[in-house]
Amino acid sequence: MRLLLINGPNLNLLGQREPELYGLSTLESIECDLREKAKAQGAQLECFQSNFEGALVDRIHKAIGEVDAILINAGAYTHTSVALRDALLGARIPYVELHLSNTNAREQFRHHSFLADKAIGVVSGFGVMSYQLALQGLLGYLRKGRESL
Ligand code: DQA
Repeated sequence: MRLLLINGPNLNLLGQREPELYGLSTLESIECDLREKAKAQGAQLECFQSNFEGALVDRIHKAIGEVDAILINAGAYTHTSVALRDALLGARIPYVELHLSNTNAREQFRHHSFLADKAIGVVSGFGVMSYQLALQGLLGYLRKGRESL
């Protein structure tokens, strides 16, 4: 099973960025941990982060035929990007949307996601554990299909 973890804008600052909201773990440590957890379950996880919308779109295009599914924390682009939605749908790669914070408990503009309605599922509000829960959910889905959920 080949998986791709995509992190969007400002997530490279994890560890120093608004720690009261996003915790103290760095993106590097989150990626390392998730790569190991995926490996322990027989999956191969590649990680990509960019602050540029177009670079994220390009990475999704490159993933066509290369990965079985995507885990994505699109950061602020979650709430603004039709381009990312179109890229994910155009690539026809199943994906899970995830967030460290509970976006529905925050400002109104974070309540809408351009990705959520087409995602396999959405995990939001569990801090670093959101990444692990998203991975678990995705692997279960890929192994057994939607009826396993
Ligand atoms: C975030 C939530 C977004 O609203 C915000 O813009 C982020 C981080 C999260 O992981 O909680 O950059 O995606």
